[in-house]
Amino acid sequence: MNTFEITDLDLFYGENQALKSIQLDIPKKQVTAFIGPSGCGKSTLLRTLNRMNDLIAGVRIKGSVRMEGADIYSDVDVRKLRMRCGMVFQKPNPFPMSIYENVAYGQKAQGVKDKKTLDAIVEEALRGAALWDEVKDRLHSHAFGLSGGQQQRLCIARTIAMKPDVILMDEPTSALDPIATARIEELMEDLRKNFTVVIVTHSMAQARRIADKTAFFLMGELVEHGETEQIFTNPKDKRTHGYITGDFG
Ligand SMILES: Nc1ncnc2c1ncn2[C@@H]1O[C@H](COP(=O)(O)OP(=O)(O)OP(=O)(O)O)[C@@H](O)[C@H]1O
Ligand SMILES: [Mg+2]
Repeated sequence: MNTFEITDLDLFYGENQALKSIQLDIPKKQVTAFIGPSGCGKSTLLRTLNRMNDLIAGVRIKGSVRMEGADIYSDVDVRKLRMRCGMVFQKPNPFPMSIYENVAYGQKAQGVKDKKTLDAIVEEALRGAALWDEVKDRLHSHAFGLSGGQQQRLCIARTIAMKPDVILMDEPTSALDPIATARIEELMEDLRKNFTVVIVTHSMAQARRIADKTAFFLMGELVEHGETEQIFTNPKDKRTHGYITGDFG
């Protein structure tokens, strides 16, 4: 079962083609990693999945992206799509408010008012992001008082609290130290049980540790994708081999 089916996808920024005829299935409740050198189109492809590229002037898209059968560029309401596909960015970006309010924010915006309900959602989301034990005694402190790694887990909690189907992550650990990175990598084990996760990473070691499937991109093309173990131990394309062995950067 696939969450996304991407068919013949081309994306242009003005005259420049950033994605070339991408064909890729993204399986449900698995972790898929996008790897490849800077500028190859990883973030661009990630953003096509919740139509974040719509916000960029001059973007043109051809081909289709289906989410559970529905074409997200014609059959799906963009607001609902973005609620179903939460996003976590490279730099932790908590809102300037308390830990609790950060996590409750989306549900409140949806009209949930009952304190018990919100409390339960906040606790569940913070547990889901492996942050509860560290913050349960200071839920009403300002989020900016957390460490970078805690802030990133808070952003994951904020995403989980909206009960999405998909979590899109663009280099979520690149601004974190190795310990905070390890915490997030451990968390991926739990996230994959409940969510389809797509993660862009520059760390091949990270892709290898956390991803079920890996897709390798070069200059807007999907060179190869498959089981992570196969991509790293027995790539079919010599360009993939070159990249994973560090022959070119
Ligand atoms: N907003 C934009 N406007 C115009 N061109 C863009 C825009 N965003 C990306 N591009 C171009 O599209 C191509 C793919 O960029 P993208 O950011 O998707 O690459 P990436 O693989 O995520 O790179 P990195 O690893 O450096 O984050 C690049 O040539 C880039 O310059
Ligand atoms: Mg990028």
